[in-house]
Amino acid sequence: MQSLPYDKSEVEALIRASLPREDGLQRTVIRAMREAVENGGKRIRPILLFESCKCFAEARGESGWKEEAAPFLSALEMIHSFSLVHDDLPCMDNDILRRGKPTTWYIYGEAMGTLAGDGLVLEALTLAGKAVAASKHPERAARALAILGEKSGVFGMLGGQSVDVEKTGERLDATTLDFIYRLKTGALLEAAFMMGAALGGATEEELRIAEQIGAAVGLAFQIRDDILDETASEAELGKPLHSDEKNQKTTYVSLYGLESAKEAVRQQSEIAAQRLKGFPGDTKCLAALIAYLTERNF
Ligand code: IPE
Ligand code: IPE
Ligand code: MG
Ligand code: MG
Ligand code: MG
Repeated sequence: MQSLPYDKSEVEALIRASLPREDGLQRTVIRAMREAVENGGKRIRPILLFESCKCFAEARGESGWKEEAAPFLSALEMIHSFSLVHDDLPCMDNDILRRGKPTTWYIYGEAMGTLAGDGLVLEALTLAGKAVAASKHPERAARALAILGEKSGVFGMLGGQSVDVEKTGERLDATTLDFIYRLKTGALLEAAFMMGAALGGATEEELRIAEQIGAAVGLAFQIRDDILDETASEAELGKPLHSDEKNQKTTYVSLYGLESAKEAVRQQSEIAAQRLKGFPGDTKCLAALIAYLTERNF
């Protein structure tokens, strides 16, 4: 199995420490929220945020960047986890396996699954809002918060999911499929590079480069996800195979075929690697992560 070329223990610990404690009469929803985040996952978005921030901050000789990045990488992973919890609901993809475990709604029921997803978004906002107030660079932190909101909402992930749902069962053209992928998956990957860059003190021009890298990585990532939905094993993937076919989704694979889909992943990955040259500092780690995403098996 192709494994992530990265020791994620530090990022993992930061995420865990930021989750609400299971307490009070509402402890069931908090448990569901914690499990939805703690149950594994590649952590690719928080890792990309962390490493992007590191590139910019270290190139500028700044210290203290980890404290600045910590709440935001946790908030981003909470929002990603919320998107997965809701994506699996019976009214969406109706899936019962995620990260090798039963999905939140399957364990806790639909109402609690919906609330756990909502709870994760609102915890993410609380965390990021407090981080802006406590930041040594409040203007950078506020920029990161605005990026998080925009890339998660109707002009980002949620917007893409809404079109994905609305168009289910239809045969889509390339432009519509591209639109859906750029938003439903690309937007949170754009957020990862952009928030890290913003917290590390990037200029607006550098933020545009971060956005372009994220867009290319996001497209490659979702096309790879489509390929894996058809070709991986359930044990490796930790989620049900053929979910797209079951839900009558047009995917890159159904539209262009497996070989063209693989070629598109390679092309987007190459675009991302080229754009990465616009980042300051040591980009070797980010380059290795981008290369891994092209070949990943889970
Ligand atoms: C799954 O994202 C949803 C997509 C955007 C394809 P990931 O593949 O990053 O899921 P986890 O977090 O590793 O489980
Ligand atoms: C969903 O795409 C992307 C999200 C925003 C959650 P998929 O529906 O293909 O994701 P998986 O395959 O269930 O992870
Ligand atoms: Mg879906
Ligand atoms: Mg799904
Ligand atoms: Mg999928």
